[in-house]
Amino acid sequence: MRLVVTGAAGFIGTNFVRHALARSADAVSRLVAVDLLTYAGNYANLADLEADPRFRFVRADIADRDAMATLVDEEAVDTLVNCAAETHVDRSIADHSPFVTTNVEGTLVLLEAARQRTGFRRFLQVSTDEVYGSISAGRATEDWPTRPSSPYAASKAAADAFVQAYATTYGLPAIITRCSNNYGPYQFPEKLIPLFVTNGLDGEALPLYGDGLNVRDWIHVEDHCAALWHVLGLPAAGGEVFNVSAEHEVPNRDVTDVILRLLDRPASLVRYVDDRPGHDRRYALDATRLRRLGWAPRRRFEEGLADTVAWYREQRAWWEAIKSGAYRDYYERMYGGRLRDSSAAPRS
Ligand SMILES: NC(=O)c1ccc[n+]([C@@H]2O[C@H](COP(=O)([O-])OP(=O)(O)OC[C@H]3O[C@@H](n4cnc5c(N)ncnc54)[C@H](O)[C@@H]3O)[C@@H](O)[C@H]2O)c1
Repeated sequence: MRLVVTGAAGFIGTNFVRHALARSADAVSRLVAVDLLTYAGNYANLADLEADPRFRFVRADIADRDAMATLVDEEAVDTLVNCAAETHVDRSIADHSPFVTTNVEGTLVLLEAARQRTGFRRFLQVSTDEVYGSISAGRATEDWPTRPSSPYAASKAAADAFVQAYATTYGLPAIITRCSNNYGPYQFPEKLIPLFVTNGLDGEALPLYGDGLNVRDWIHVEDHCAALWHVLGLPAAGGEVFNVSAEHEVPNRDVTDVILRLLDRPASLVRYVDDRPGHDRRYALDATRLRRLGWAPRRRFEEGLADTVAWYREQRAWWEAIKSGAYRDYYERMYGGRLRDSSAAPRS
């Protein structure tokens, strides 16, 4: 496999690159890691991999047509895993434009580069359960309609639609995975689990949205990466969707309680703040299709979360470098007013 992984310096990209390079040279002969290094990308995550002769890092924008076409050609790429995206729902509510540029136009640029390359084997679009919107009852299977609630989810659903259009119209062997909420090492501390773990480590408030009863379907990032690797080996003509989930639902309030217990911090750190507009109440995926095709999650939530908390405890230098400068301004914009107006009891 001559593989490009985009968004390689982000949370899932970093974990997936490490997963792929842990396979033999017979399985992966070349891995080109592409990342624009936005606020969410961190080259330090990958620096030690430069010692592997199969590895190359390229700082580039996936929405840059010439750069992507040249790269795919020069490196004789046959497989592309697209993890590059703007990923934070709250940021998409404040400004949708980078979400359209990267998530929609960037995906189209990559699809086009893959289409032009002869011998191209597999395009894998890494998508999200958020495209299905809030699931009031049952679990979303792959044929549920997409009903995105946030600008982020809408941009991901649009990208998925283009991937399917390229499979149908041009016969591109492009497939989509839709995964539930990930947790694990290297996650940027704007997302719930790393935000609460790092705030808790510093004895700072944990700003919990609304009544804290929004439910997320949690999976360890290693299980997600194993699923991505597994689908790359499946026979699929193109256009197929595979849900990825450990089918483990937890309300945010319970996740918060477990984090506080693991950190040995008091419940008084929790501050209930004004909810996110359009906040999806519940995500729940049905991953039967992929399980029947031989993949299964291995990590149990409680044990995986304990390992994750231990990772952030040990990697203080990694997240302290992030939680300074521009991050502080972002945090003040996002939570400053909300925290000043917060309460110790749940909001209705
Ligand atoms: N984190 C989750 O729980 C989750 C769940 C399901 C699906 N996903 C999907 O997985 C993918 C990766 O998510 P993540 O959590 O690792 O996100 P992340 O924000 O941690 O990483 C995204 C990476 O993409 C890079 N990037 C952004 N714009 C770029 C551009 N124009 N060109 C090149 N690189 C660019 C960033 O620098 C960053 O390194 C996304 O597509 C996301 O929708 C994430």
